[in-house]
Amino acid sequence: MSPKIAPYCVIGNPIAHSKSPAIHAAFALQTGQDMVYERCLAPLDGFAATVAALIASGCRGANVTVPFKLDAAALATTLSARAQAAWAVNTLSFTEGAIAGDNTDGAGLVNDIVRNALFSIAGKRVLLLGAGGAARGAMLPLLGESPAQLVIANRTRATADALVQHFAGQGGLLSACEFADLDGPFDLVVNATSASLSAAMPPLPATVFTSATLALDMMYGKEPTVFMDFASAHGATARDGLGMLVEQAAEAFAIWRGVRPETAMVLEQMRSSL
Ligand code: ATR
Repeated sequence: MSPKIAPYCVIGNPIAHSKSPAIHAAFALQTGQDMVYERCLAPLDGFAATVAALIASGCRGANVTVPFKLDAAALATTLSARAQAAWAVNTLSFTEGAIAGDNTDGAGLVNDIVRNALFSIAGKRVLLLGAGGAARGAMLPLLGESPAQLVIANRTRATADALVQHFAGQGGLLSACEFADLDGPFDLVVNATSASLSAAMPPLPATVFTSATLALDMMYGKEPTVFMDFASAHGATARDGLGMLVEQAAEAFAIWRGVRPETAMVLEQMRSSL
């Protein structure tokens, strides 16, 4: 490899399915950056050793995916505010002696909603489904858009309550509830549960949706998820998580390379490759 070419990668287990190499290759081509971006399979008990080997080989940065986002937060020597809030890291930057950890997932979600779906979150009633890692990562960026209300609904009420407590000082009108207690309608509904992975659906009342609702599932696939089908059937505009995936990558690319790639064409390209 030419010394000019900066190496990056995505670390996960499994990793073969990752679309990040294709996305970053498209960004690099578009912005004329000399970089390569590969997949890196880390053993389940060997995340830190894998990162150490990558740094020793000259790697400049890495995205981190399932199941290592918490390990990455623990390993980073510095954490951005949004990584601290999420207590999860999906973007590592390696510079002399330091490992900077950031989390671009929530920013990717918000950028997809605001820039791609042209939906302004400010002043809106927002419903976030789920209270796990994906939901936690979305909290600070969603609150940063100044919604009128942010309700977190989760199967396990205590986890939603803990999330509300954790972010109570961040402004916005935060509350937690169970699915059965939901009282709609909402302008924006974000599915951050992992239910779609098993083709399941959080038990939502249809009243959370209207024809003005944007319903976004963080999951994506060739076909709409059950959540998207349910939302569409009740009049909402449904959107999957592919835009979020491309936007979180763009945010990571900007951190590493100092240039922000255009995402529209890359999103189209990724859509046609599903
Ligand atoms: P991730 O990192 O993807 O967020 P996670 O931290 O394991 O994964 O969180 C998964 C989330 O999906 C949780 O909010 C979980 O609800 P519980 O806290 O009650 O476990 C939610 N979830 C998973 N399967 C679900 C289902 N079938 N219906 C509703 N919620 C579900």
